[in-house]
Amino acid sequence: MPLDPSPIVALAPVIPVLTIERVEDAVPLARALVAGGLKALEVTLRTESGLKAIEAIARDVPDAVVGVGTVTKTWHVASAFDAGARFIVSPGTPGWLAEHLADAPIPVFPGCATVTEAMALSALGFSVLKFFPAEASGGMNWLKSVAAPLAALKFCPTGGIDTKNAAAYLALPNVVAVGGSWVAPKDAVAAGDFARVTALSWEAAALKV
Ligand code: 3PG
Repeated sequence: MPLDPSPIVALAPVIPVLTIERVEDAVPLARALVAGGLKALEVTLRTESGLKAIEAIARDVPDAVVGVGTVTKTWHVASAFDAGARFIVSPGTPGWLAEHLADAPIPVFPGCATVTEAMALSALGFSVLKFFPAEASGGMNWLKSVAAPLAALKFCPTGGIDTKNAAAYLALPNVVAVGGSWVAPKDAVAAGDFARVTALSWEAAALKV
């Protein structure tokens, strides 16, 4: 049975989605986000540094709750857990992955983009789903349309969300948090401009769910 993900979404209205190229950026980046009030951090497995970045944040930034994103293979779960990940996010969730994730030792936000996918995940006991890619898959209209038929489910939309639309997403009753990369712009991270990351995080952390 999947674990309850509500303690993770309760940490902040926005979950930064971090794709870390240089492992040495991981700790200052995580500290900058936490300083701005964003504590749940998703580190994707899209780069070679992903697992090492999770390990570094788990070890050196005690106020962060680091999770693993872009989980697309069953072995990612054990590797990320061993590295210190405290939650899991997948971009999409085929049945073989969903069954594996249902037994994960940490909470999971499995990805979905259709009503059928959401129903399959609900049947396995998942309660908060990542809606991805949110803007490309129907955005707020999709979320409003599924609120009645999928009344038991809550969503964390991600993909195309930024300062322009985050507040409107968060105002929807079936949205418990949003995810996005906008709080950690690649150019700011590359330039070591972590003060900008903290400023963006303050703004994001002040949004109301
Ligand atoms: C993700 O994996 O959740 C997305 O790549 C984040 O989408 P964004 O870059 O549009 O915020």
